[in-house]
Amino acid sequence: MTKTITRLQQSALCMVYLALLTAVHSPATLCQVFEPDDETCLMCHEAYNDGLARTAHRLSSDTKNATVDIGCVSCHEGGEVHADDPSVENITNPAKMTSAAVNSTCTRCHQPHTEMDNVGFDPHIGEDLACTSCHSIHNGVTALLMDEEAQFCGKCHVSAVNAFKKRSNHPLIDGNLTCLSCHNFTGRGNPDYGYGGNANCYRCHPEQSGPYMYEHEASSSFTTEGGGCVACHFPHGSPNERLLNQPNNSLCRQCHGLPPAHVTAHNGEGASFGCLECHSEVHGSYDNSHLLDPQLGIKIGGSPGSCFCHNVGD
Ligand code: HEC
Ligand code: HEC
Ligand code: HEC
Ligand code: HEC
Ligand code: HEC
Ligand code: HEC
Ligand code: HEC
Ligand code: HEC
Ligand code: HEC
Ligand code: HEC
Repeated sequence: MTKTITRLQQSALCMVYLALLTAVHSPATLCQVFEPDDETCLMCHEAYNDGLARTAHRLSSDTKNATVDIGCVSCHEGGEVHADDPSVENITNPAKMTSAAVNSTCTRCHQPHTEMDNVGFDPHIGEDLACTSCHSIHNGVTALLMDEEAQFCGKCHVSAVNAFKKRSNHPLIDGNLTCLSCHNFTGRGNPDYGYGGNANCYRCHPEQSGPYMYEHEASSSFTTEGGGCVACHFPHGSPNERLLNQPNNSLCRQCHGLPPAHVTAHNGEGASFGCLECHSEVHGSYDNSHLLDPQLGIKIGGSPGSCFCHNVGD
């Protein structure tokens, strides 16, 4: 307890200095030497260092070459009083603070990341959400997130998680994708890693990236307003096969009227061919501008290179 007495004396001394010198010195600098050290906190809270020691917030007192000084008091204020009178009222606990107060604790050392999307605006860094909605300081895993699989996103985004249970889906539940496979929070302005852009999809689906001799503008240049891959595919899950946002021909009819040539034949009322039967190269074609199956001639009983349709005579 000699330590406590010394510290009490220090506190008293500090108050005197403060009274005398506030006008000319910064009180914070002056009193820093009297802040309780980590050792004091750990006398009563040793367990709280276990989680910390494995992370980027390992205490400077445990590290030889720390570039930034991190102690228990970096995130918990009121230590001087609390160490002597250890009641909960005497120390701040981010778990009980407003989001704004938590955020300002963290942003003393961190720039909040605001690059989650291409636009550079992250709705997560708002009034209602704290850094600790996603980051767990004492029990965090990789990047101090609450869990490695990013399951915590689902706490707030129930409908997104439920979409992955639909008939066709990205293998989030059975496979090794996580929300963070596509939603990058720390891209620092790298548009390739924002969500929504085709480049995000190309990382895992290079075969759809072309470049094609004949592009389908739905995939390529039609990308200004939520177009591109997500013009036809739901990214999370869909009741239709292949993550398609509409079943069968309705998919194409979102953007195309029925071409005049199709009205009476094949795709007229009562016709039985789906658009994809003939226009199989829906992502783009190396063969023809109509995105037709290069084998269409053979398919209907003719030979390659012959007229796509009706090579056996009408
Ligand atoms: C003499 C023992 C002792 C010392 C030294 C001590 N604490 Fe505590 N601390 C306690 C006790 C007892 C509690 C209350 C635990 C409870 O009621 O759940 C507590 C509670 C806390 C809480 C939780 C507050 C809350 O609102 O729930 C935090 C955070 C905390 N201490 C941080 C620190 C820090 C940082 C230091 C070093 C500056 C420190 N403590 C030093 C004994 C101590
Ligand atoms: C980088 C910031 C940071 C540092 C450094 C830090 N803590 Fe914490 N501490 C937090 C946050 C945030 C919480 C709220 C719970 C959570 O999110 O993990 C917390 C919660 C606590 C609690 C209360 C837990 C509860 O049940 O609510 C105690 C006690 C505590 N910390 C003690 C310590 C001690 C002792 C140290 C030094 C060994 C320390 N903390 C260092 C950020 C920090
Ligand atoms: C006293 C300064 C300081 C404070 C306060 C602080 N941090 Fe840190 N934090 C650091 C340092 C230093 C690192 C390691 C270097 C880096 O990644 O910038 C770090 C790293 C991190 C990382 C990255 C971990 C990793 O493994 O990549 C996260 C996330 C983080 N801090 C969150 C927080 C949150 C949330 C708070 C508020 C509860 C907080 N920090 C408060 C200094 C601080
Ligand atoms: C909605 C959830 C969420 C919120 C809220 C949040 N983060 Fe993060 N944070 C993440 C995710 C996800 C990562 C990226 C992890 C990865 O990709 O490895 C991350 C990464 C980080 C990193 C390490 C990478 C880097 O950019 O240096 C730091 C530091 C960090 N966050 C600090 C903060 C701070 C400070 C706040 C509060 C102002 C905050 N975060 C709020 C989810 C969040
Ligand atoms: C504590 C609650 C909370 C957590 C945890 C959380 N979010 Fe959010 N998220 C929100 C809120 C609130 C918004 C803004 C309102 C909205 O669009 O629903 C938002 C918006 C979003 C958006 C839409 C952005 C836009 O531009 O429309 C995406 C994408 C997103 N979150 C992904 C994630 C991912 C991925 C995680 C896990 C790393 C996560 N969120 C964790 C609350 C949360
Ligand atoms: C395969 C990539 C991918 C994965 C994995 C993914 N997302 Fe998304 N997410 C996207 C894309 C792309 C969009 C934009 C859709 C659009 O613009 O039409 C989006 C949109 C969102 C939105 C805003 C629109 C909405 O649906 O509410 C939220 C919230 C969201 N995602 C949360 C999540 C969460 C939570 C997870 C994990 C459970 C997750 N996402 C996993 C690609 C993905
Ligand atoms: C991190 C990797 C990753 C990213 C990013 C990604 N996907 Fe996937 N995607 C997969 C995996 C893995 C599968 C399952 C492959 C399989 O089953 O053979 C898949 C399957 C698909 C399927 C076929 C689904 C089915 O039912 O057969 C479509 C369509 C698809 N992805 C579209 C997209 C689109 C659009 C994007 C961008 C919004 C995207 N993917 C981003 C990994 C990814
Ligand atoms: C015009 C609508 C449309 C657009 C835009 C589109 N797709 Fe597709 N995609 C489809 C259809 C239709 C299928 C199913 C093809 C089939 O079953 O033969 C499909 C299938 C897929 C598959 C499953 C594998 C396969 O070839 O069957 C993947 C992966 C895929 N698309 C990724 C993408 C990516 C990545 C983008 C963006 C570059 C994209 N799609 C843009 C309509 C589209
Ligand atoms: C998101 C809108 C969109 C969707 C959905 C879409 N397309 Fe397209 N498609 C376009 C645009 C834009 C063009 C280029 C302009 C044009 O020729 O109408 C195009 C061009 C085409 C062409 C080439 C036209 C030519 O000049 O020969 C064919 C064939 C075609 N689409 C078939 C389809 C089929 C089949 C589907 C369904 C699998 C489909 N499209 C879905 C937007 C779309
Ligand atoms: C039996 C095969 C077949 C089916 C089924 C079919 N098409 Fe076509 N489509 C063609 C052929 C062949 C051409 C080229 C015709 C030409 O050169 O005039 C073509 C041309 C087109 C064109 C570009 C020509 C124009 O006039 O704009 C579009 C767009 C198109 N089809 C959309 C569709 C859509 C949407 C569907 C489904 C509702 C569909 N097609 C079903 C064979 C087919």
